[in-house]
Amino acid sequence: MDGSRIVLGVTGGIAAYKAVEVCRRLVDAGAHVAPVMTEGASRFIGETTLSALASEPVQTSLWDEASPIPHTRLGQGADLVVVAPATARLLADYAAGRSHDLLTATLLATRAPVLVCPAMHTEMWEHPAVQVNLATLRARGVHVVEPEAGRLAGGDVGHGRLADPAAIVAAVAAILTPADLAGLSVVVTAGGTREPIDPVRFIGNRSSGKQGHALAAAAARRGAAVTLVTTVPGTAPAGVAVRAVDTADEMHAAVAELAPAADVVVMAAAVADFKPVAVAGDKLKKADGVPEIRLEPTVDILAELGAGKAPGQTLVGFAAETADVAANAQKKLVAKRVDLLVANDVSAPEAGFEHDTNAVVIYRADGSFLEVPLASKGEVADAVLDSVVAHRLQSSGSSKS
Ligand code: CTP
Repeated sequence: MDGSRIVLGVTGGIAAYKAVEVCRRLVDAGAHVAPVMTEGASRFIGETTLSALASEPVQTSLWDEASPIPHTRLGQGADLVVVAPATARLLADYAAGRSHDLLTATLLATRAPVLVCPAMHTEMWEHPAVQVNLATLRARGVHVVEPEAGRLAGGDVGHGRLADPAAIVAAVAAILTPADLAGLSVVVTAGGTREPIDPVRFIGNRSSGKQGHALAAAAARRGAAVTLVTTVPGTAPAGVAVRAVDTADEMHAAVAELAPAADVVVMAAAVADFKPVAVAGDKLKKADGVPEIRLEPTVDILAELGAGKAPGQTLVGFAAETADVAANAQKKLVAKRVDLLVANDVSAPEAGFEHDTNAVVIYRADGSFLEVPLASKGEVADAVLDSVVAHRLQSSGSSKS
């Protein structure tokens, strides 16, 4: 959302207090938030609260600003207008094209996408007039985050409660994200494989799958059809097809089946390099002494993909390193014939396995690289996908010339 200009309209409903949280989250995500409150909103929350958290002071009036036409300035400068909460009255005014205050005038004066997040009592939400207004707005391309069911003002329980601020911010991110992977099929692997020793024990690693899952979520948000091959299916993001696997052999089989039809394959999984030669049928017993476990290599899935890469396919590998990160990463890039290699110093603080943040260096086959300093795994995912898009543009340009 970095630098995106968002007009946040707040109307007069009890859920106006949640707009404060929406505002804070948008600003934290890097957006420039210009808040606009209706007269009704001012009865529920103080202007000072929103002004303190937003990127500029709250505006409330068409008339009292130094600039004589605040609605056109707000509307024309916006990348997105969000109304949260949106009352039944706001939906009716917007659907009818009425502009009687700064927010309704801004909604008519903008060509930016608009997201409305209705909140009202169940009876109002279910009223045919409200639903018809919403259908009209949807037909005009307005985005809607529907209310949830839950506890409402006055103690009633029902449909109409403003959606969770996190869901609203996720919808904002989805609207602002360029669909630059639309039409592409992307396979992402994630998590650490587990190689069984006996029915209860395995050889594993510390990978949590978070970076791979963030990559799958970001690719889906950017328009790709994503299949996620993961050892941690329970935490897979919405909107992606999931293939649950456990062992390196299972991951190999799934990737071998899916990769030929994929435009992009991202091997973010920590695949075991060795597996026990034999798996004991019953639990190994302590009384039988210390077991000797013989290991044999697994298939290097990434190297196999690199050797048989289809023209036009983009292959991304990861390198989990604890020392000589740059040299090891570049060696892997060449040895496994990948287009991009994402190097991870997993011993660095707050980076790598299990953390929610990561810091990586993305190496390209021409020797150039991009450093991505400590950021959320979602931001790192977008940086990796930016490099994928750039690589694909460059290689389609050079194959044409
Ligand atoms: N990888 C793979 N199949 C394996 C092992 C690794 O596809 N059997 C992939 C990983 O998903 C990652 C890349 O290869 O994209 C590098 O993995 P990494 O564990 O860093 O390196 P290794 O090849 O295992 O080499 P080393 O153990 O020497 O660091």
